This record gives sequence, C-alpha cells and structure tokens, in this order.
Amino acid sequence: MEIRLIDTNMNTLSRRRFLQIMDSLAACLPASSLAGNALAEAGLGSVASSRGLLYGSVVRGTSLMNDPTYAAVFARECRLVVSALEMQWRGVSPTPTSTNFSRADAVHAWASKHDFKFRGHALVWHGQVPTWFAEVPDGDAAIRALRDHVHAMCSHFAGRIHSWDVVNEAIQMGDRVDGLRDTVFLEKIGPDYLDIAFRTAREADGQALLTLNEFGLEYHDGDGRRRRRAMLDIVDGFRRRNTPIDAIGIQSHLATDYNWKLDDRSLADFLKEISDRGLKIMVTELDVVDRGSPSDIPTRDAEVASLYRRYLDVVLDNRATIGVVTWGLTDKDSWITRGDRPEFRRSDGLSARPLPLDDRFRRKPAYDAIAEAFRAAPLR
Ligand code: XIL
Repeated sequence: MEIRLIDTNMNTLSRRRFLQIMDSLAACLPASSLAGNALAEAGLGSVASSRGLLYGSVVRGTSLMNDPTYAAVFARECRLVVSALEMQWRGVSPTPTSTNFSRADAVHAWASKHDFKFRGHALVWHGQVPTWFAEVPDGDAAIRALRDHVHAMCSHFAGRIHSWDVVNEAIQMGDRVDGLRDTVFLEKIGPDYLDIAFRTAREADGQALLTLNEFGLEYHDGDGRRRRRAMLDIVDGFRRRNTPIDAIGIQSHLATDYNWKLDDRSLADFLKEISDRGLKIMVTELDVVDRGSPSDIPTRDAEVASLYRRYLDVVLDNRATIGVVTWGLTDKDSWITRGDRPEFRRSDGLSARPLPLDDRFRRKPAYDAIAEAFRAAPLR
C-alpha cells in the first residue's frame, strides 16, 4: 500500500518537506510533550556506558527539582551528575563556622535515586571563595580554613561520590616560572596549597577520584603549550612529594574559530604524558562556542558537531580517558548562551548553539557527533 503525503493544495510532499513540517509543528508543542516522546529512546549515557565510558552533565539543582521536563531529559541522557553551583564554598560556608550542604544533598539524592554517579565541582577555586577567607589573619589560619573546608566537604560525601575537582584553574601564565595563577590561596599559603588540598581530600575520602581541573590545555598555541608544561610539572611535583592525585580534568571549552590551533597529534601526545604518569583523564566541561560560525543554523550546527567529533576522537582514543561531561545539556542552559562573557557573543546577535540539545530539548547534530564518537571509542 502506498501512503501519500499531501499539502493543503493537494500536492504530494517529499519526505524531506514532510519532516520539515513535522519539525516546525514540534517547535510549537510544549517541550514536555517532546521529552515525553523521546523518553523511550536511549540517551548518551547509555551509548557511553556500552563502551565502558561515563557521560554526564553539570546540572542546575533548582531546575532538577522544579522542572520535570529538564529532570526527565537529564535522567534519559546522563549517567553522571555534576554539581557545581550547589558546591560553591561561599554558598556552603557563608561564614567561617557554618556549613550548609542542603542544596548539594538534594542533587546527590536525585543522583542516587537514579543510580547515577555524582561528581563535585570544585573544592578549591578562586572564582567562588567566601569573602571571609580573604580576611583570615595569616597563613596558618588560611591553611586551617582550607583544610577544614576540604575535609568537611569530602567527609560529608565520602563513599558516595565518584570524583572531586579538588583544585580548579590553578594555572595562569604570568610572571611565575611555575605557571601558578596568582590567587588568594597562593598569596596566603603559597604553592603548597595544592598539596594541602589534595592530601586533605584523600584523608577524608579514600575512594573518590581526586582531580586537578584546568582549561586552556586543549590548544597547541604558545599559551596552551606553556599550560600543558605547567600542568605536567604540578603532577611531577606531586609524585615527588607523594601527594595523591588520580585524574586530570580537561575542561574542554572549545570554539569553532580556534580550530586552527587544535592539533590532534600534540593533544594526543599531551594526553599520553598524563596517562604515562598513571593518571586518569576526564573531559570535564565540554562545550563549543560557535561565535566563529555562520548564522545559518544547519551550517553552524554542522561545524559545531564536527568539532565535537574531531576532539572526542582524539581524547577517547586514550584509554585513560574515563568519561565526558558537557557543561550543560541544552543550548539555553549554558554559560555561553547566558551572555555573562561578552567574548562568547555572536556578532549577528543570534543566540549560541553550544550543546547537544537545543533550547527545546531536541537533539542536534552535536548530539549525534558525540554519540558516534562514543560508539567509535575503543572499549574500556
Ligand atoms: C561557569 C558557570 O557555568 C556559570 O554559571 C558561572 O556563572 C560561571 O562559571 N570553568 C569552570 C566553571 O570551571 O566553573 C565555569 O562555570 C566555566 C569555566
């Protein structure tokens, strides 16, 4: 039997036109009905796990609790949940003597209900220090405060957490030969703050993967090369001093207009330097800034997707890479789209399309690219 699709003028529709119409109809539906339909399909997390890999995303705890569609899509796509906002030191300890884990606990409860792994970002990060920390009287008080914080967080989640970003963004190429960023931790404690944080984390939790998380390691320009060197020097220093560390987190904020400085070979060599030192690798904050790509959405999405695929092929080829985290799941749920960083804005004024799902939870070419990279990855 032949089924013919006809339009209002009784013209036969091509399959392509039919799909276009269905797509625009779908765009008019409430997102919840779309997510409901798509729920039956396996998500990125299950594709990843079929290759022994982990996939997940950073989550917004409030959306997880209040937006059933968001939560359903999250549950479908992920196997790992990253809590960031809810983990911020300044939020957990607004005063030196208070700790409030309730927001992080709520995300953890959701993760364990779904049998997902849980990842904490970040224990020590200059971007989220409580104001009182800058006012501690001296170095000893700063060490005590840092240790108390790391200990409190790690022991609270001990045995219930997959991994921690123990220190985030410790590197910034400036005047120092070691490449350490000039932060309040460096100022008050000195370079030892890194060892202190990792040792304290291990004392409090013998199981969680302790990660040093960093950006700017992805590219092969002068800055990227120096950052890679600084990272390996930190790891080598840890090894000499017997400071525990399990993994390097490569943030992986990519951009289509930086493709010229992505060099597959040197990236693979750098990752091998890490795995040769016995460390695991995680892609921890993957997304793609599309500011350098055209306005036309199919072309733009194709460029973003091909960068996802190219990058993941290199990173997943190293068997020390255990998993991939995207920095959000949907385009509207991204720091790139929110526009807090002017350098991410598009000159045509259109909103960015950096993540695997669009702002109505529909899968994009980037989604397929990630899934295909997982499928092509060597089995762990
Ligand atoms: C971003 C968050 O996504 C935003 O919501 C926040 O306003 C700024 O920080 N590197 C990191 C992340 O380690 O914590 C940052 O996340 C993105 C860059």
